[in-house]
Amino acid sequence: MDQNKKTYYITTPIYYPSAKLHIGHTYCTSVADTIARFKRLAGYDVRFLTGSDEHGQKIQRAAEAEGITPLEYTTHIVDGFKALWEKLHISNDDFIRTTDERHEKVVQELFTKAYEKGDIYKAEYEGWYCTPDETFWTEQKLGPNHTCPDCGRPVERVKEESYFFKLGKYTDQWLAFIEENPDFIQPESRRNEMIQFVKQGLEDLAVSRTSFDWGIKVPFDPKHVVYVWFDALVNYISALEPFAGDSELYKHYWPADLHLVGKEIVRFHTIIWPIMLMSLDLPLPKKVFGHGWMIVDGTKMSKSLGNVIDPNPLIDTYGADSLRYYLLSEIQLGNDGNFTLPNFVTKINADLSNDLGNLLNRTIAMIQKYHDGIITKTADIDGLDQEISALAEKTVADFEVQMEAMEINKALKTVWAFIGRMNKYIDETMPWALAKSSDEADVTRLQSVMYHLAESLRIIAVLVSPVIPVGAPKIWEQLGLTGFGDANLDTIRTWGGIPTGTTVVKGEPIYPRFEVPEMVEVVEVKEEAEAVDTSAIPPLKEHIAYDDFEKLDLRVAKVLTCEKVPKSKKLLKFTLDIGLEERTVVSGISQYYEPEQMIGKKVIYLANLAPKKLMGIESYGMILSASDWNEQLEVTNIDSLPPGSIVK
Ligand code: ME8
Ligand code: MG
Repeated sequence: MDQNKKTYYITTPIYYPSAKLHIGHTYCTSVADTIARFKRLAGYDVRFLTGSDEHGQKIQRAAEAEGITPLEYTTHIVDGFKALWEKLHISNDDFIRTTDERHEKVVQELFTKAYEKGDIYKAEYEGWYCTPDETFWTEQKLGPNHTCPDCGRPVERVKEESYFFKLGKYTDQWLAFIEENPDFIQPESRRNEMIQFVKQGLEDLAVSRTSFDWGIKVPFDPKHVVYVWFDALVNYISALEPFAGDSELYKHYWPADLHLVGKEIVRFHTIIWPIMLMSLDLPLPKKVFGHGWMIVDGTKMSKSLGNVIDPNPLIDTYGADSLRYYLLSEIQLGNDGNFTLPNFVTKINADLSNDLGNLLNRTIAMIQKYHDGIITKTADIDGLDQEISALAEKTVADFEVQMEAMEINKALKTVWAFIGRMNKYIDETMPWALAKSSDEADVTRLQSVMYHLAESLRIIAVLVSPVIPVGAPKIWEQLGLTGFGDANLDTIRTWGGIPTGTTVVKGEPIYPRFEVPEMVEVVEVKEEAEAVDTSAIPPLKEHIAYDDFEKLDLRVAKVLTCEKVPKSKKLLKFTLDIGLEERTVVSGISQYYEPEQMIGKKVIYLANLAPKKLMGIESYGMILSASDWNEQLEVTNIDSLPPGSIVK
């Protein structure tokens, strides 16, 4: 605890120890860990909490099935959680179990407080219950054949004495709060969903159960146990021990700055939890962010669907950094993400092993070869050097803004653009040629090139450390720098931190290259009806550089108008909406399409092809079409074309 720093309290959901964790859970925790690590770099006094949600009917049944006590059952699984988080280099400051005494006490105090206030009352619950989700449902909200509208699994009829919490009473206060705090629910789409949900009317919530006993006892009526969500949500506060002695942690860190949760539990975190806090007169958290799901073959990965990917063997084979980097760079926070092994390996090979790993290897090897491993601090000696040192500072600034906005994948793109720039800098400055010259200017130039490479890597290492905490400090070690633990954004904002005389230390490559595995075939491939004569397919062209491809400005465009060009057999004249403006383009597809067919269609459009006059019309850019070797051509429907058809 540091009284002079701004605090940042971040939490993940507490996971149910009812199943092994899969990479969906790993995703959630990796995102939270990355944000926590970034906030530490940005100078915050961070507290990062994760834990386990151990009560409820589901757990009790699972334990009974194994013939052990619920606590034995959960303890075993929770040990596995802790081992996984360690293996993934998760930097949580605390791990709360809802079976901890510190938690149970707080739940009981708060439940009693709400009861004494008159916000909890006893009645009979009669309705439906989704045990896997631990959620109550009314008849009207159910899916077809009495299924849970959230997860689709069958619900159970429940009729028992329950305490109810007066959610409905707080409807207006909740709506007013959301209005005044537009950033409370993120992203925006989730916020709108929640507002709609509440506007339909909130029913009072059953917050105790009597038909089983694996839970926290209601202190004034011990045949009831507290409903598992009422119990679980309290973890965010109970971990700070609000009623302990001087309750320092609580005073220091509450309210939480961010609850990061999956999108299916945003409702609990943005409606039930804030209303519990309103009832208890406690401050509300500042933000709830609902992230997307890891999807396999188009459906959410989950134990019940049997499509889970276990993170353990992935980490064992490819390393914690690889899994973290993939999840964070591939998925925009809030969106769903896909995982396939070939994509994963291709990505980490390209970005970690090639781009970052090679920049480090090349730099260290050259400094050893040309300067006996010793770095000499050298000022920018030309415009190119100035560009690099300025770009380094801009990269740090942009990275910080993007990370603060939780645009983690964008922030990584920013850093990797800089890494790419530095690899190109090597090719531009050709150190191997400079090394052959004894000319004074070339000797200094070589020194400055080596300095710019090393100094860039000093900065890059700190920037990437929230995502790849294993490799990042190794970069510093190889550069011969110490004190990585004390590095932060302030120590890399200004160029020129490496002192003269620093001696590099060659190490193992920080990210080895992996064989890209074959895509595991899940879809049955139908026999092709007719054999294809491949000799008819035009041969493949030479590789082009990524930079060359990037020059193409390809856009989706909508056809506003389309007409035949008079006196032309081939040409159609289009007006396209390309978002920013309208374009006129002439295209030679008149034999294939009637003008009316095209209107309203979306096409792929090359926007930055130099204009050209065709039959007296100034044509801007090009509409892409695909055609096979039998003169079949398609603009809007490529499904009918054989593989190998050419797009142009
Ligand atoms: O809901 N992709 O626990 P839980 C991404 N105990 N995230 C996923 C995912 C997937 N395929 N599958 C699960 C609970 N998650 C409660 C929380 S908090 C007071 C109580 C995420 O183990 C999911 O979105 O079912 C959620 O945020 C988290 O894992 C916990 O899931
Ligand atoms: Mg769940």
